[in-house]
Amino acid sequence: MDILRTTRALQSRADAVRADGRRIGLVPTMGALHEGHLALVDAARARADDVVVSIYVNPTQFNAGADLEAYPRTVETDLAACEARGVDAVFLPGDDQLYPEGAETWVDLSEITRPLEGVSRPGHFRGVATVVTKLFIAAKPHVACFGEKDYQQLALIRRMATDLGFDIDVVGVPTVREPDGLALSSRNVRLSEEARRQAPVIARVLDAAESAVASGERRCEALLHGVRTELAKAPLAEIDYAELRTADALAPVDAVLEGPTLLALAVNFPAEAGGTVRLIDNRVLETSQS
Ligand code: PAJ
Repeated sequence: MDILRTTRALQSRADAVRADGRRIGLVPTMGALHEGHLALVDAARARADDVVVSIYVNPTQFNAGADLEAYPRTVETDLAACEARGVDAVFLPGDDQLYPEGAETWVDLSEITRPLEGVSRPGHFRGVATVVTKLFIAAKPHVACFGEKDYQQLALIRRMATDLGFDIDVVGVPTVREPDGLALSSRNVRLSEEARRQAPVIARVLDAAESAVASGERRCEALLHGVRTELAKAPLAEIDYAELRTADALAPVDAVLEGPTLLALAVNFPAEAGGTVRLIDNRVLETSQS
């Protein structure tokens, strides 16, 4: 497995792989890898000959310096996990590689970044769009894989790839879950014991909404009422947002579902160390099945 630390080295390697007629699959991550990330590696492997994982804790997508510092860094274990999963190359850039001295170029999307996560994390998606653009240019992939768990991130990267004309197939990979339904996240270990016990309520709420739609429910208010009622059964769960949005542009949906609709949830639970852990999850509700 190759380890590359400079953009230039990654670009030269990409040129060589492409010259061989081989397809490159990119999996951008911030490290602390778990089975969710490794599912993206498998998805890239299925679509490409050469799989590149980037591990970079991107400072510009963090709102608070404290969160950036507290972000788990487990590079040695991550490299071992990549090796075991058959990754061909890992890109481990320093800050100077992605943000050269004096950097002032940003990629910012106007509408799709505003709702949901954009409300509580101002500037977050500007950091994501900017770093993913830089990773696309550095890795020159044919295909790039992102998790559906971060649905809004996936949606804006698709939008951005179209808008900027990137010749890259952006692939969404289904969320990997614990046996009890909780979506894998590096944040889960910070939950208090009782919060961890209650957190799978999120997945149950999404299942219930999906069943309701499959049985013919189309009224937004009824669906959101069901979400709030089910979540209230977990006393530690505190809703940050529960919203229905169009699945592609994330535009508001009024009154009734008319096409594929995103149900997006962000729920706070108590952290073991005090404070809260904010968990997000989502489901695309398909209206065409019934
Ligand atoms: P990170 O949080 O490390 O996530 C890397 C990728 O793993 C993202 O595409 C995310 O959606 C996916 N992922 C996380 N948990 C998952 C799960 N349970 N199932 C499936 N996929 C999962 O997202 C980022 O990093 C950054 O914003 C990044 C895109 C790397 C830009 O800095």
